[in-house]
Amino acid sequence: MSVISVSHPLVKHKLGMLRNIETNSKDFRELITELTTFLTYEATKDWELEDATVPGWEGKPVYVQRMAGIDPSIVPIFRAGIGMQEGFMQVIPTAKISYIGYYRDAETLQPKLYYAKLAADISRRKIYVLDPMLATGGTTSAVCRLLKKEGCKNIRVLCILAAPEGLEKMAADHPDVDIMPAVVDSHLNDKGYIVPGLGDAGDRLFGTK
Ligand code: URA
Repeated sequence: MSVISVSHPLVKHKLGMLRNIETNSKDFRELITELTTFLTYEATKDWELEDATVPGWEGKPVYVQRMAGIDPSIVPIFRAGIGMQEGFMQVIPTAKISYIGYYRDAETLQPKLYYAKLAADISRRKIYVLDPMLATGGTTSAVCRLLKKEGCKNIRVLCILAAPEGLEKMAADHPDVDIMPAVVDSHLNDKGYIVPGLGDAGDRLFGTK
């Protein structure tokens, strides 16, 4: 598994604004969108190109290159992953969107699937799982397991913050899946929140609580 962090001064600047608890929901959503565009450029930079020709301004064919293969699918994980959808779609507007939702079972504490609507031909697509917070990694690991059962072979996870605990779980469960966080934070607290973190990403995105 590779962990590929995006190192850019603007990313660091925007992360600082996200961590500020005085940043309101509107600005928080815009920052998540902007950071996701950076992650998307990084996550797609090894994409294969194919040769093509287009009619040029001189009336002659001009050699160009274009992205090869079938459109990718993003997989925003409910709920906070939806906050990253817009940023990805600004960069790759033809991506398909597959939603997946899990809740944590109160007794077993294991993730339980409650919603999945996947793009057609999902097994042939590059998959970009979106979840701003890779905390314990339990849900993200379950999502990757489900996608692999559907035949997906090319999966990347884009997140804004990752905890070392979540990265370790992903490395153990899915060594073939690359993780692309904007930053890796220090640790999880006893309630499973990332420290220093930014709080509950879903609540801050959607203005709940
Ligand atoms: N989910 C969040 O929204 N925040 C955390 O810190 C951990 C998980």
